[in-house]
Amino acid sequence: MHFELSEEQQMIRQAARDFAQNELKPGVIERDEHQKFPSEQVKSMGELGFLGMMVDPKYNGGGMDTVSYTLVMEELSKVDASASVVVSVNNSLVCYGLEKYGTEEQKEKYLKPLAAGEQIGAFCLSEPEAGSDATSQQTTAEDKGDYYLLNGTKNWITNGSTASTYLVIAQTHKELKHKGINAFIVEKGTPGFTVGPKENKLGIRGSDTHSLMFNDVKVPKENRIGEDGFGFKFAMKTLEGGRIGIAAQALGIAAGAYELALAYAKERKAFGKPIADHQAIAFKLADMATQIEAARLLVHKAAWLKDQGLSYTVEGSMAKLFASKVAMDVTVEAVQIHGGYGFVKEYHVERLMRDAKITQIYEGTSEIQKLVISRSVLA
Ligand code: CAA
Ligand code: FAD
Repeated sequence: MHFELSEEQQMIRQAARDFAQNELKPGVIERDEHQKFPSEQVKSMGELGFLGMMVDPKYNGGGMDTVSYTLVMEELSKVDASASVVVSVNNSLVCYGLEKYGTEEQKEKYLKPLAAGEQIGAFCLSEPEAGSDATSQQTTAEDKGDYYLLNGTKNWITNGSTASTYLVIAQTHKELKHKGINAFIVEKGTPGFTVGPKENKLGIRGSDTHSLMFNDVKVPKENRIGEDGFGFKFAMKTLEGGRIGIAAQALGIAAGAYELALAYAKERKAFGKPIADHQAIAFKLADMATQIEAARLLVHKAAWLKDQGLSYTVEGSMAKLFASKVAMDVTVEAVQIHGGYGFVKEYHVERLMRDAKITQIYEGTSEIQKLVISRSVLA
């Protein structure tokens, strides 16, 4: 057992740290305020190889391990969770899903530009009536011989308007319930496929979250992922890794807020000394540091298990459950340590507090993570 990062992992972390501080930080407050998607920054992240980190180099990926991916997610999320969610969805939902379960033709056509960061992807499972209860898919994919006819609505889709490639889950054989669900690759611009307006959100306001409408959308048969009826398993297996990415995002949000609070506590004076010298504040910082370290260990353990080819279902859920709670608790304390300054935008911590909340909701709410964990411990 060892806890040291390799030289390569340290280098990639440093590259992400530099990028976050130099390229993401300058405009992050404005993007949040105006709900502006970080287009330029996403393009640069593609050039840096952050959008297809774990994909095999033969499909234009970086061939890196999951631990490196969590390090990048942490550093980016310290500054801009709206940018890091693009990295998370593209890497661990879209690229992973295509590389693991796609055909050679699908990988050539769709994975390569996604892994190179030339395009971005979206993962479309949630619906107005099917969020946590994901087997209740209402979107239908009727088998018409050499194509499927897609009808329905997807909700809350990250990269909804900016993606080129959409992985869409839909019901083909209703009578078979979850065993009748399929996953499809749908291209932007396919007739009958429209994107709804951008959601006006509490946090990750730069991220483009949209509903998607499918009205008699023809999807070629070769765009189905896996065997007929594999779609629900596809979604679940893909989300297992996605949850590690979101856990790393939550960790980064917490760590970013903590670093700001620590620096501020050393600088800000009250009653003749830095507020860090008041034990109430020093103990808050001690708690924050401890919680963050525990979250980091869970995140790295889950990533390491995935890299070893071992099961990581439960550990990924534990990491997400714990790290997202840490993100909420630490960001609230970071605002408190900043006093009134924490309540205004210039000091960044109020945005991190708002951004933290989504990590307890998407890719399975905290209650759903507890369901996954409890089923395992009770089995
Ligand atoms: N791996 C493989 N198969 C799995 C699985 C896993 N991790 N989890 C479940 N399954 C299989 C089960 O084995 C079962 O198949 P069989 O009958 O063949 O055995 C089938 O799926 C149904 O499983 P359950 O009976 O456990 O289904 P359930 O209705 O009780 O629900 C659930 C399971 C875990 C709650 C699931 O519905 C779930 O994960 N819900 C949350 C959805 C979610 O995370 N959405 C995220 C959307 S993407 C997103 O949010 C992206 C973003 O923000 C950026
Ligand atoms: P519901 O499922 O209706 O849950 C409501 C409440 O009930 C929650 O507290 C939940 O935990 C609780 N609950 C439900 N069932 C149970 C149970 N069995 N036991 C205990 N409690 C339960 N989805 C995608 O497919 N792709 C995306 O890219 C994507 N991006 C998103 C981006 C944002 C900003 C947001 C807000 C959501 C995104 N989602 C995405 C959707 C997200 O995954 C869902 O919102 C989430 O899974 C919860 O579903 P729901 O909103 O329908 O809530």
